[in-house]
Amino acid sequence: MSTDTIIKLENVHVSFWQNNVGVYSLKDLITQRKSPFKSKTILNNISVEVKKGDSLGIVGRNGSGKSTLLRTIAGIIKPDSGTVTVNGTFAPILAIGAGLEVELTGYENITMLLALYGTAKKNSNAVENIRDFSELSHEVLSMPVKQYSSGMVARLAFSISLANDSDILIIDEVLAVGDQGFQAKCLQKIYQIKDQGKTILFVSHFPDDVARICNKAILLEKGEMIHSGNSIDICNNYRQLF
Ligand SMILES: Nc1ncnc2c1ncn2[C@@H]1O[C@H](COP(=O)(O)OP(=O)(O)O)[C@@H](O)[C@H]1O
Ligand SMILES: [Mg+2]
Repeated sequence: MSTDTIIKLENVHVSFWQNNVGVYSLKDLITQRKSPFKSKTILNNISVEVKKGDSLGIVGRNGSGKSTLLRTIAGIIKPDSGTVTVNGTFAPILAIGAGLEVELTGYENITMLLALYGTAKKNSNAVENIRDFSELSHEVLSMPVKQYSSGMVARLAFSISLANDSDILIIDEVLAVGDQGFQAKCLQKIYQIKDQGKTILFVSHFPDDVARICNKAILLEKGEMIHSGNSIDICNNYRQLF
């Protein structure tokens, strides 16, 4: 792997066990002679290389495998076959709210995740920075996360992930749930992080944002990477799906 490569996936295959449709009871199991679970391919033969400082857009319909791909890159999911090599650090908050503990309050989640990153030791203002960026009130941050709206969860998750000074920023549809004010603020922050030369993995259903933020992109369809290349071209391919 060349020294300027930060992420490399070679022939990655991921499958999940899913409920077999039509098998709901012991009687179904005996009479239909089918297993209650079947293996479903979620990512098929994916090869991608991301260079340091690249912003890679990942586009595709709902269920095409975008979040699964991010989880595989992050090492949360182990591929059935193929290799994943990552030469950098990233915040362990991937999708909206994944990584947050819903029974804990916003403040407790912040403290827990900062301790996990080791950020609190390096930056004593980390909690204030997160609170300021999220614009969540003291009252909201004192509530358990399970009582948050999806927009509030996105604000908290994204603000925490920014506090971690990692090499790779992973953004999975954060902009989709935030209100307009938060979207604009996130976009501004993403540009700033990009200008710092960090690597960004950006999943979004807004092709205009992907084309603007990312230099490269890939298009997933039913777990297959059907196009890869320049983000403007790939976003045009994505628009043509509908
Ligand atoms: N834990 C899981 N177990 C079984 N199937 C899953 C699991 N997570 C995701 N899937 C399936 O994998 C496919 C891709 O999901 P996902 O990666 O979340 O897609 P996207 O982010 O593109 O919307 C979907 O068909 C989904 O039902
Ligand atoms: Mg997803």
